[in-house]
Amino acid sequence: MTRLLVTGGAGFIGSNFVHYVVENTEYDVTVLDALTYAGNRESLAGLPESRVRLVEGDITDAELVDGLTAEADAVVHYAAESHNDNSLHSPRPFLDTNIIGTYTLLEAARKHRTRFHHISTDEVYGDLELDDPERFTEQTPYNPSSPYSSTKAGSDLLVRAWGRSFGVEATISNCSNNYGPYQHVEKFIPRQITNVIRGIRPKLYGAGENVRDWIHANDHSSAVLTILEKGRIGETYLIGADGERNNKEVVELILQEMGQPRDAYDHVTDRAGHDLRYAIDSTKLRTELGWTPQFADFESGLAATIAWYRDNESWWAPSKDRTEAFYASKGQ
Ligand code: NAD
Ligand code: DAU
Repeated sequence: MTRLLVTGGAGFIGSNFVHYVVENTEYDVTVLDALTYAGNRESLAGLPESRVRLVEGDITDAELVDGLTAEADAVVHYAAESHNDNSLHSPRPFLDTNIIGTYTLLEAARKHRTRFHHISTDEVYGDLELDDPERFTEQTPYNPSSPYSSTKAGSDLLVRAWGRSFGVEATISNCSNNYGPYQHVEKFIPRQITNVIRGIRPKLYGAGENVRDWIHANDHSSAVLTILEKGRIGETYLIGADGERNNKEVVELILQEMGQPRDAYDHVTDRAGHDLRYAIDSTKLRTELGWTPQFADFESGLAATIAWYRDNESWWAPSKDRTEAFYASKGQ
């Protein structure tokens, strides 16, 4: 395996993966990315042109996808419409990209017999009660709540069907909430960090009791690479780093780290259908493939992320006003 086709490689997690691959392997990478509002070519700046090529294009473009897949040894599929709030107000692009886009890639992988790794989310499993002792495992039944998570669930099922019916050599990973550099300011952690930098009070949906299981994007990348190289074909692996925190705790940590009073935030309108809690049991990945996360300490990972947003205002500033105007129009 020498050349990877990475879809969505100009987005948050995809670009972190491309950086990780360049630093830790010999592989060359072709990124296929439509550069939607969520994609940013600057997230790939500084990477060697001899190893990373960016092709601007859509994963629903069958001819383009076919040609790029033919040149690749493996496809790592990150491209998606990824934001729950957007999916509540404008679901259609989620069906196009997450369902039809995944179908288009699978057809190319089938034709060219290309190894396929599908990036998915823990949200396909729905949510857990706060006091539930169980966490999500590979056996948890699918029960998605939002248009976003239902299209991700649909894409997972397509991958399984193309594996079983057509022999596509596929693996799937379902990961919990990522944080780190290059994340769009619409998402929770960067929104609050950049709000504080701009002198805007952080915004907490509802009471702030919702729990997310945070993992650093670098740890997600190392897990995906491990599955790509060592995972068993046809298998699903859950990725998580035991990082459960409720949203109120995270906002308080951000404010404290940024030298503000811990209660200097506002409660705003809650998200419709807001999932209460996600929690991942990643035993299978750890015991079968020997993966372990490196960013064990959430506080120091968060501090490094805050420093990155302070140092890279030119990366996020062009999106900030538009994003806040959208939220303001929804009372959030
Ligand atoms: P993102 O929104 O930051 O990036 C998505 C990228 O896909 C962007 O660069 C965008 O331009 C590109 N894209 C969108 N539609 C496209 C299309 N039709 N054709 C080509 N490119 C297109 O998303 P992210 O947070 O980096 O998520 C990446 C993947 O990881 C998604 O599949 C998501 O479901 C999954 N995931 C995300 C998280 C998380 O915490 N963010 C956790 C688990 C899984
Ligand atoms: O669990 C994995 C998922 O994590 C991924 O599949 C998604 O692509 C990714 O966006 C993320 O989904 P969430 O909906 O959990 O992430 P988000 O950053 O939008 O919100 C995290 C939590 O913070 C959630 O409980 C909603 C809350 N929130 C969000 C925003 C933007 C707030 O309280 N205030 C905010 O301003």
